[in-house]
Amino acid sequence: MSDAYVHGYRPRENERLSDQAGTLVELLHADTAYPPKAAVLEAGCGVGAQTVTLAARSPDARFTSVDVSADSVARARDRVGSAGLTNVELRHADIFDLPFAAESFDHVFVCFVLEHLARPVEALATLARLLAPGGSMTVIEGDHGSAYFHPDSAAAHAAIDCQVQLQAAAGGNALIGREVYPLIVAAGLDAVRVRPRMVYVDASRPELIDGFTRKTFTAMIEGVREPAIAAGLIDAPGLDAGVRALHRTTEADGVFCYTFFKGVGTKASHGER
Ligand SMILES: C[S@@+](CC[C@H](N)C(=O)[O-])C[C@H]1O[C@@H](n2cnc3c(N)ncnc32)[C@H](O)[C@@H]1O
Repeated sequence: MSDAYVHGYRPRENERLSDQAGTLVELLHADTAYPPKAAVLEAGCGVGAQTVTLAARSPDARFTSVDVSADSVARARDRVGSAGLTNVELRHADIFDLPFAAESFDHVFVCFVLEHLARPVEALATLARLLAPGGSMTVIEGDHGSAYFHPDSAAAHAAIDCQVQLQAAAGGNALIGREVYPLIVAAGLDAVRVRPRMVYVDASRPELIDGFTRKTFTAMIEGVREPAIAAGLIDAPGLDAGVRALHRTTEADGVFCYTFFKGVGTKASHGER
């Protein structure tokens, strides 16, 4: 992967993911709870932004959270410890080479990871093999094509498109949210249901203005300034105008919208297929 833009590897990016997790907890996680003794695999846990929410909301389930970045795993371990959670085991491991037996988990949870993978179906199929029959897989992804706002701005869309192009060049897909349903189906799971989660921000929701429009979405676009210019995708005035236009949506008459896609599929029980 290029160094241009990889979620989770840089301090500022980690702060951004934490802001995002804090702001969106209810929207993304309100309907996720695992029963006592359930074994849950969180694949690509990063610095643990979702881990602490999942584990706190299902205190009697047992979580195994893995990430390919040793540094992120160490940070996630600190974070889980600081939260006083004792139901999470953190492991340094690659989704494509996990050290677990087939059918050893009751549930799998994957959030904001597929967007970085060149082979998302293969990743989900690999994870599906670790699921026990009857188990569930939950996938959450964003989609930058779902960003629209008032006042509208061609400069803002051009700046967002730089992020989309850089992520594609790094082997990922910033527009993957719309593919969550076909991806889970292609991975072999049944009874797949996707429920979109729209983030709607206007002046009456100051916590979302700060936590989502500014510190999550616009910070991400600001974060691609140098690599986008270096790659010749845009010039500095163009990128800066786009970022200004995104900040403009946080004013009293501004509106910002974005949609996350949360899908859940089930692994057929033996004899069901
Ligand atoms: C955007 S972060 C999301 C982290 C976390 N799920 C969250 O929502 O805050 C993507 C994470 O996927 C991890 N990742 C990417 N490829 C991976 C792989 N092949 N195996 C395990 N983790 C991977 C990265 O190291 C990074 O921590």
